[in-house]
This record gives sequence, C-alpha cells and structure tokens, in this order.
Amino acid sequence: YQNADGDIELTEGVRSLVSEADRIYIVACGTSYNAGLVGKDILERIAGIPTEVHISSEFGYNMPLLSERPLFVFLSQSGETADSRAVLVEVKKRGHKALTMTNVPGSTLSREANETMLLHAGPEIAVASTKAYTAQIAVLAILAYDIVRANGKELPFELMPELARVATIMDSVMSQKELFEDLAERYLKTTPNTFFIGRGLDASVCLEGALKVKEISYIQAEGYPGGELKHGSIALIEDGTPVIALISQPKTNLNIRSNVKEVVARGANACIISMQGVEHEDDEFILPHVEPLLAPLVTVLPVQLMAYYAALARGCDVDKPRNLAKSVTVE
Ligand code: G6P
Repeated sequence: YQNADGDIELTEGVRSLVSEADRIYIVACGTSYNAGLVGKDILERIAGIPTEVHISSEFGYNMPLLSERPLFVFLSQSGETADSRAVLVEVKKRGHKALTMTNVPGSTLSREANETMLLHAGPEIAVASTKAYTAQIAVLAILAYDIVRANGKELPFELMPELARVATIMDSVMSQKELFEDLAERYLKTTPNTFFIGRGLDASVCLEGALKVKEISYIQAEGYPGGELKHGSIALIEDGTPVIALISQPKTNLNIRSNVKEVVARGANACIISMQGVEHEDDEFILPHVEPLLAPLVTVLPVQLMAYYAALARGCDVDKPRNLAKSVTVE
C-alpha cells in the first residue's frame, strides 16, 4: 500500500468500497476475531466509521439487521476458514461488498471478495496464530488512516512513524523473552486455571491472551473485562489463582488497578503487565509507551510469550496442539 513517497495509500478499489459504506461489519473466527475487536476501536476512534465485529459461525445463521450500505471485512490469516466463507457467500448473494484481509494471496476468501488487503506477515506455520494477529491490527489501522486522509480530515497522530516505533519496541520486548519464561514459571506452570483481565482495548487483548493459553498450554483460561468480574466470575478466584492484568490505557488505569485489588483481596496471585505512562513501580513488566490505540500490538507480546513458555514448561507441543488445525475448512 505504499506510494512513491513511501507513505501509505490504499488502492482505488479499496477506497471506493470504504467510501460507499455507512457501516463496517468485521467477520472472523478465533484469533482473527480477537484482532477484529481491536480493529473496531481503531476504525471507530480514528476514522469515525461505525463498526461491528461478528463471529463467523454465529453471523452466518443469525444475521443482525444490516445498515443500508454495509461493507463486510473478512479477517482471516489463512483465507480458507469455512465458517467465514459461508458468510461471504451469503452476503454476496445479497449483493453486498466484501473486503478480505488475509495473509495468503490467492486464498478462497481473497479470490471471492471484491478486494483484498494482504497482511504480509510472512508464512505462519504453528497452529496458534500470533504474527497474523498483530499484522491484522496494523492493516486495520492503515485502513482507518486512509479513510481519514481520503476524507481530508486531520490525523490524530502520524501512523507510519508510530508503527515503525512499535516495530522497534516489539523487537526489544522479544529480546527480553526470558523474562516471560520466568513469569510463566511463576504464574502458569502448575495452575489448573487463570484469568487475563483488562479494560477497553486491554480487555480485547486479554481475550487473545486467554485463547493462546488455552490453545497451547491447555490451562482453562478466561479473558475478562476487569469491571465485569465482580458480576459473577470473581467467585472462581481462590488462593493462588493467577490473574494476569494488562494495563496500557490511561483512561481506565485506576479502575483496572482497583479490580486487581479486588482479586488480590480474595487470594489471587496477580501479575501486572503495564506500559510507561500508567505504570507502578511494582508491576511485573513495564512496556515502553506507544499510542494507546496501537497498544495491543505491544501488549499482546507478553501474553503470547507467557502462553508459549507455559506450554513448554508443561511439556505441551507448542506448534501442534491437540484437537486443533491451522485452517478449519469445515463448518
Ligand atoms: C483455527 C485456528 C486459529 C485461527 C482460526 C481462524 O481455529 O486454529 O488459530 O485463529 O482458525 O483462522 P483464520 O485463518 O480464518 O484466521
């Protein structure tokens, strides 16, 4: 998507799909769905376009009332997921437009949509999706930016330099990966269950953290919005239950910290991963500051790494977890 100045610019095809739309419907499964939740916030807050996110296997059979000019965005690492394809077939039958964001050029979802934006994440081999998640968020941010620019509106921050900074920070987190081996040992090695809690965008990343832990280490894991815990799930907190809190959003910093106190008061073993700007000195890991809207690109790394090391510590096959397939081509 780069123009001659090295800046981002979408193709006319993608631009015209977006400019005709009054609402975006992101449709996806698994990790791609979790990336879509982050994308919704980015699209609404940067580009001001109403966006909904739907699980493919639900959407196909329980389609909500659609807006007048919907644009469907199919997020799929493989581009082959049958649940998502079933929705694509149905919306095309109804005459709606579709844009696929996928890592695989020429995949079914790419061929059958009106337009494609490639993730360029490089081949993803292990069953649990990781780099496709961050690439999907980056590409959704690029889409949001282009919408703002095409409308001649002001950008809240310069995207490309910030994405470049984020990439450097991701490298630096990866270079400290042994720290997360230690956290995984301390919090996840023997536990039967765990919670990931956060608010706003952090809550969306918590869903992804919990999914990674479930997929590869087989620990019963829940990703939960911190404020909602007290309405039921806090009943599961016992002495020693590991609760991993992600804190990157200034708006909800104080609220999530009081949620951490609530679980600690009930015996939880809390591990706080925060970001400069909202950090406390006794947090387990403090990430460098990035724009809060792009924070998921960075906050997801500690949870992916903790899931990875927890799986290793528990003797699980990190690349080929039981019962799962890389691409699920049956509905
Ligand atoms: C499978 C994989 C998941 C993946 C999901 C969606 O269930 O095991 O890792 O997130 O499919 O796949 P997609 O290729 O559509 O992103």
